[in-house]
Amino acid sequence: MHGKSIAEHVKCVEAFVKDFGSERIALVTSGGTQAPLEKNTVRFIDNFSMGTRGATSTEYLLAAGYTVIFMHRESSLLPFSRHFPSLFTMLHVEDGKAVSSDAKLVDNIQKSIHYRNRILFVPFVTLDQYLHLLEGICTVLEPLHERVLVYLAAAVSDFYIKHDDLPTHKMKTEEVSLPLSVVPKNLQRLVEDIVPRSFVVSFKLETDESILVEKARKALSSYGHQLVVANMLHTRKEHVVLVDNEKEMHIRLTDKNKEIEEDIIDNIKERHSDHMANAGTAQ
Ligand code: PMT
Repeated sequence: MHGKSIAEHVKCVEAFVKDFGSERIALVTSGGTQAPLEKNTVRFIDNFSMGTRGATSTEYLLAAGYTVIFMHRESSLLPFSRHFPSLFTMLHVEDGKAVSSDAKLVDNIQKSIHYRNRILFVPFVTLDQYLHLLEGICTVLEPLHERVLVYLAAAVSDFYIKHDDLPTHKMKTEEVSLPLSVVPKNLQRLVEDIVPRSFVVSFKLETDESILVEKARKALSSYGHQLVVANMLHTRKEHVVLVDNEKEMHIRLTDKNKEIEEDIIDNIKERHSDHMANAGTAQ
């Protein structure tokens, strides 16, 4: 969390949104949440998410004209730098300076400088931080109504141990006890009470394909939002299904030089345009 409290992060969002100049703004959530197993945390429940979906989508959202609040798991992948997992080995020293002539690196540094006034980074680590930040940021965004796209690509923990049930100290191996509770879904409250006019996209991840679309439909009817992007764990980079109240649309990556997020964002931008137009929001 870079030493900032939830309230301080929300204040930064307030200041950022005040100066926001573009017609659309996206809140992107990205990466996995950590659920502690002890108050003095040594162990925790975590998940596989590296934040690729969120970081990649953010690059395409910026290119599509969005201002982005990038709410990400600390140390998960970030837009532009995500392409370079081993930056250190790409550099050499010339006249006492670390330099590189790698064209892709130069291009991505230039892009990140170009967009730096249109992106705000808000880090989280734990499930609790995620839930409070999401609610706080959405509250700040509410007055922007239909211009807001909420893009929930984070992999949020489904289980946690309630604060009162957490042992204070490192759990002893001979006394292991994990009284797990199911994390209450906050999406319905978000959609109904906090950002009722925004365009809200949630993600659904499954490992059993036979229940994927059914689960996405269930989420749509339970939460009342606009779109679910459904994906399977092992094929999520090549295939997604966009599920709305009327139909399903498959996006399949056919060009190996492309990223699936480019097509996802193209499609979502169009849907968001319709959402704004239906509400009479100027574009
Ligand atoms: O980061 P990558 O490695 O690229 O992986 C990307 C991804 C697979 C994580 C991403 O594409 C994805 O599918 N994210 C959603 C994972 C998921 O299935 O979440 P869920 O079923 O636990 O939650 C569904 C929706 O409910 C989510 O959009 C979430 O914001 C929302 N939710 C979750 C928990 C909670 N307490 N309240 C919620 O409202």
